[in-house]
Amino acid sequence: MKVGVAAVCVALLVAVCSVEALNNGLGKTPQMGWNSWNYFACNLNEQIVNETIDNLISSGLAAAGYRYVNMDDCWAGWRDDAGFIHPDNKTFPNGVRPLADKAHSKGLLFGLYSDAGEKTCAGRPGSLNYEKNDAYTYASWGVDYLKYDNCYNDNISPLTRYPIMRDALNATNRKIFYSMCEWGVDNPATWAPLVGNSWRTTGDISAHWASVMSRIDLNDEWWKYAGPGGFNDPDMLEVGNKGLTHTEQKSHFSLWALAKAPLLIGCDIRNLSREVFEILTAPEVIAINQDPLGVQGHKVWNKTFADGAIDVWAGPLANGDVAVITLNRASVQAVIPVTWSVVGLKPGSWHAVRDVWARKDIGHYNNGFTTTVEPHGVFFARIRA
Ligand SMILES: *[C@@H]1O[C@H](CO)[C@@H](O)[C@H](O)[C@H]1NC(C)=O
Ligand SMILES: *[C@@H]1O[C@H](CO)[C@@H](O)[C@H](O)[C@H]1NC(C)=O
Ligand SMILES: *[C@@H]1O[C@H](CO)[C@@H](O)[C@H](O)[C@H]1NC(C)=O
Ligand SMILES: *[C@@H]1O[C@H](CO)[C@@H](O)[C@H](O)[C@H]1NC(C)=O
Ligand SMILES: *[C@@H]1O[C@H](CO)[C@@H](O)[C@H](O)[C@H]1NC(C)=O
Repeated sequence: MKVGVAAVCVALLVAVCSVEALNNGLGKTPQMGWNSWNYFACNLNEQIVNETIDNLISSGLAAAGYRYVNMDDCWAGWRDDAGFIHPDNKTFPNGVRPLADKAHSKGLLFGLYSDAGEKTCAGRPGSLNYEKNDAYTYASWGVDYLKYDNCYNDNISPLTRYPIMRDALNATNRKIFYSMCEWGVDNPATWAPLVGNSWRTTGDISAHWASVMSRIDLNDEWWKYAGPGGFNDPDMLEVGNKGLTHTEQKSHFSLWALAKAPLLIGCDIRNLSREVFEILTAPEVIAINQDPLGVQGHKVWNKTFADGAIDVWAGPLANGDVAVITLNRASVQAVIPVTWSVVGLKPGSWHAVRDVWARKDIGHYNNGFTTTVEPHGVFFARIRA
């Protein structure tokens, strides 16, 4: 078991950390897919997952990059006398395997959830002390991804519990993406790069603007520790769920994309509106999330007012371009400046600026530009090298 110093960091916009990542070859860019929890919670069954697999393909979401079909809590039912886990008899009467097979037959990948404790958060059997059995079972079902939660953990340190499952997954010889969910309580960014492919930095998100802002701000603190093979996780997307305006959903998706967060859809994709589909499939926004450099964009400037704040977030991309978001947290329209020195470009140098939502170039500038941003909105730009 190796848990040590995972990253050597340099506080520059570009150089960041040399991060030693988990050696399973996965997560070179943030994971993209669907997860059942944010919409269905414990009301999950095989018909929903079956239809979701079909809809990922028929809607075009899979073609946009969403490949993982992940069942969250409540698929597990009982553990037998030999210590092996079985799906819920009522909601998964045909088991997990046929769903994984179906996902694979369509070119998708399949994920499950468990918990590094005696029970899952919803009270189903957990994996603590059964890590080897469970990893073996997942591999035998063709599972490609494990989200591993933190409830009922007997106060055992996550630095002990999470590497045990890492090693059990590795021992199966199947490549299984390892998504750690210890809620950020033990500063996982500082040790998780050697353990998982992503690690939650926060408690659960909910479909409210204040929750979205607090998740991305807490996550931002750890930006230097992210990189290919291991990313910070501010939790799954609430795009498409009731509680956020259209503008807020675009801001949420933009910030997750820039921060190299996992893009895990958390709504019911069987009934997707055109508007939500267009947010989730914006090609130039997704391209920034999936940029091979894998450097997490972060907050580089802000100004606070009585009723909110305006921010500039930025991060470098593999081809030398810079991704920039101006964010208006206030309840009135704001004019937000972007200056080259703030986003890591040389003052006086000419650069073309592209609006990645509109997919249009907006002009050439030699010291910066200004954006006019609606309340809770963003302007998302790609500044050409
Ligand atoms: C298991 O770990 C070893 C050592 O880090 C690594 O070389 C190998 O690729 C891993 N295998 C899997 C399936 O993750
Ligand atoms: C599920 O079914 C099995 C037999 O197929 C049985 O042994 C087990 O007790 C059942 N579990 C629950 C929770 O219903
Ligand atoms: C999915 O649903 C179809 C139609 O009801 C059914 O024929 C098929 O067996 C189901 N597949 C799985 C894996 O549940
Ligand atoms: C589908 O979504 C629309 C609004 O987008 C809603 O009115 C309708 O009830 C939903 N249908 C189902 C079956 O959930
Ligand atoms: C703005 O920046 C200051 C200092 O860097 C920080 O303390 C504050 O929390 C930031 N405000 C927001 C809303 O991010």
